[in-house]
Amino acid sequence: MNLDKKISMAVIRRLPRYYRYLSDLLKLGITRISSKELSSRMGITASQIRQDLNCFGGFGQQGYGYNVEYLYKEIGNILGVNEAFKIIIIGAGNMGQALANYTNFEKRGFKLIGIFDINPNLIGKKIRDVEIMHLDSLDRFVAENQVDIAILCVPYENTPAVADKVARLGVKGLWNFSPMDLKLPYDVIIENVHLSDSLMVLGYRLNEMRKSQRNKS
Ligand code: NAI
Repeated sequence: MNLDKKISMAVIRRLPRYYRYLSDLLKLGITRISSKELSSRMGITASQIRQDLNCFGGFGQQGYGYNVEYLYKEIGNILGVNEAFKIIIIGAGNMGQALANYTNFEKRGFKLIGIFDINPNLIGKKIRDVEIMHLDSLDRFVAENQVDIAILCVPYENTPAVADKVARLGVKGLWNFSPMDLKLPYDVIIENVHLSDSLMVLGYRLNEMRKSQRNKS
């Protein structure tokens, strides 16, 4: 596998989806799949699949297809699911608690090791054995623990200051849930997540479907 080659973000963004589908195939006991079959399950072209996987050196064999378990493991390695990234959550409100309660992140290689908030009523409570600490203890916590990723679930107006603090402490990955596209002048990687963008696309598509049904009747 040639990892020196720069892989496009478009390909990287499709990998978790391959990983998910391959995991489902394994659960179904399917050990081998052609790019054509995978393409019809995933709704992307077989040539796209071949192109994507060729970026990492292939994995398939002419006339055989893909070995599901091997491909699943290799894509998992590429995505770092065995890295055991250490994550913290900042903001233990609705969103922060929902994410803290989601156990599946661990299966994808992300271990929650700390939760921080400023609300005195939340400090000391535990979510799945992880204690909610005051933001004031963040500096010490980051100095004493390897923190790879901070998940930001604080209100919009507090997000820039919290992001700045976390980045200054040396945390290199930020998963930002606040509805602003964060940009920071540091060497950090930021993934902005906007669930409502997806919901609004759904709303648009629903409206379009209704319009076309009305036009037909
Ligand atoms: P919430 O009000 O339930 O929770 C926010 C928590 O952050 C509170 O516990 C508060 O005490 C804490 N907090 C405030 N300032 C803080 C600071 N400086 N340091 C540490 N903790 C602090 O809000 P909710 O519903 O959980 O939303 C959190 C964020 O996630 C908001 O920015 C919201 O807009 C965003 N959100 C994003 C979604 C998305 O699609 N990305 C969907 C839902 C919410």
